[in-house]
Amino acid sequence: MAFSDRLRGKTCIITGSGGSIGRAACLRFAEEGANVVGVDIAAPGAEETVRLVEAAGGTMISVHPADLTDKAECDRVVATTVERFGGVDVLFNNGAMAYFAWIEDMTDDMWSKTINEELNLVFLMTRAAWPELKKSKGNIVNTASLSAWAGIELLPGLAHTAAKGGVLAMTRQLAMEGRKHGVRANTVSPGTIETNQTRFILEDPEWSRIQLGRAMINRMGQPEEVAAAVAFLASDDASYVTGADIAVDGGVRAW
Ligand SMILES: NC(=O)c1ccc[n+]([C@@H]2O[C@H](COP(=O)([O-])OP(=O)(O)OC[C@H]3O[C@@H](n4cnc5c(N)ncnc54)[C@H](O)[C@@H]3O)[C@@H](O)[C@H]2O)c1
Repeated sequence: MAFSDRLRGKTCIITGSGGSIGRAACLRFAEEGANVVGVDIAAPGAEETVRLVEAAGGTMISVHPADLTDKAECDRVVATTVERFGGVDVLFNNGAMAYFAWIEDMTDDMWSKTINEELNLVFLMTRAAWPELKKSKGNIVNTASLSAWAGIELLPGLAHTAAKGGVLAMTRQLAMEGRKHGVRANTVSPGTIETNQTRFILEDPEWSRIQLGRAMINRMGQPEEVAAAVAFLASDDASYVTGADIAVDGGVRAW
């Protein structure tokens, strides 16, 4: 498929670039002409994404390993981006890590780590990039989740729902604060996306009943389908879209 050129010359930071959705976004953004800056705490996946983007003819650098729960690392990502490309136009806060347990088994440590690694890092990275986004009148896309909107039977996602609900609400506030500076902020809320972590659902009848049975489009989503929604929000095609959320969940939320 031939993509448009709508991100040509835009410098876009994509966190979690070594993961499933992050990699698909790096490839999609590069296809659309962006200068991509990948970031990940894990080096091997991040390196592989750079290799794939370059093999496809795209422009990408990567900052890894970088733990975005560390303020200094967020500052380093922005400084490296400005040094290489002169500014920041788009921040896609995608990278995250959650810890799952039912409330009886949810330890203080699992709770705090989930809030830190799913919510705090979005705040830290956004605050670090904010001055550059103001200069460029850029935009932010944050990854929320279906879990920010609905409980999912079988998923012990107490801390995850709290963190992603926080991302969703915080993004509306960012849109409100950004309006004075021409900065837009939106979220994407994926449903169940087929990745190495979720593929087992297809084999398990109970999970399949819940996950696939609730989708109007009766299959899992693909990372590329999330990336497509993010590319739209990041582009000038979404110039009148802020404070919004796009559900990429096959219709689960509407059913
Ligand atoms: N896959 C799904 O079904 C699904 C559904 C809803 C929401 N999401 C959200 O989409 C996003 C991407 O999910 P994915 O399935 O591609 O996950 P993934 O695990 O494949 O990728 C996440 C990446 O983020 C990186 N990362 C984690 N913590 C980090 C940190 N502190 N600093 C820097 N990098 C860090 C990881 O190393 C990994 O490469 C996440 O925010 C996730 O919550 C995914």
